[in-house]
Amino acid sequence: MQKVRKAVIPVAGFGTRFLPASKATPKEMMPIVDKPIIQYIVEEAVASGIETIIFVTGRHKRAIEDHFDYAPDLEHTLEKSGKLDLLEVIKNVSNLANFIYVRQKEQLGLGHAILTAEHAVGNEPFAVLLGDELIINEENPGLKQLIDIYYKFGKSVIGTTEVPKEETSKYGIVDGKLIEDGLRLVNYMVEKPSPEEAPSNSAITGRYVLTPNIFEALKRTPFGKGGELQLTDALMILREKEVIYSKNIEGIRHDTGNKLGYIKAIVDFALEREDTKEFMKNLILEKAKALNEK
Ligand code: UTP
Repeated sequence: MQKVRKAVIPVAGFGTRFLPASKATPKEMMPIVDKPIIQYIVEEAVASGIETIIFVTGRHKRAIEDHFDYAPDLEHTLEKSGKLDLLEVIKNVSNLANFIYVRQKEQLGLGHAILTAEHAVGNEPFAVLLGDELIINEENPGLKQLIDIYYKFGKSVIGTTEVPKEETSKYGIVDGKLIEDGLRLVNYMVEKPSPEEAPSNSAITGRYVLTPNIFEALKRTPFGKGGELQLTDALMILREKEVIYSKNIEGIRHDTGNKLGYIKAIVDFALEREDTKEFMKNLILEKAKALNEK
């Protein structure tokens, strides 16, 4: 079986939910404490065995390229001033993986972004990680859980998480035969069903392992809702040809593509980190006390 060596990370979207912050700065570069969101995602991919990251970028996304590049002047300054810990941190970022950048000239949807990466991926299985979703599991990284399923069956695997029934209308929901705990043989996927219509609680999250046959399926997929090429539609076409699995990912999921999810992620991380947790805990207690007294 071919190894999963490459990961596509689409980051070409406009990030309209974060305007005006995302007007000239990619939303993926916004920090969770002191590390940009996109770096957490690249680190998850690398911890899952990925060697090459293919970013699908667009205009105004230069900052992402700069972040994963060498920064000789900054490195020189840190070295001269003896800030060797920081120098190490900075150097490690650019040495995380091989980085490839492809441009999506028009923002025609997630499916279109993935099709843009076809030549960089070639004829091998690959991973997809969305640039605005964090999955935290230090012992067993989210993407690795899907790659392990790929190595078992050799077929595409969609990452899912269980959501409360009343929230199914926010997600794509997977329906299929439960093979074992959290692992399904996908039958179909419905976009944003009402709680009554939802066939399960398994919501599609921003992690996939795909066989290269997805490219043929994407080419056969008509542009759908909002004039976009939807990955979910292409997966339904792929399913006519080969089986697809879905796997519930174990870990804490943060949707940092919207304001509330972003704020929650910062609070959660700050409560976990040694250098910020005491401060954050006290701050929350202080604010809660003040709110109670109001
Ligand atoms: P989103 O649906 O979150 O879109 O895309 P967005 O543009 O980033 O944000 P909003 O909804 O306008 O606030 C999910 C992922 O797919 C990428 C995005 O960059 C994001 O990582 N994407 C989306 C592309 O790369 N190209 C597209 O045409 C659409």
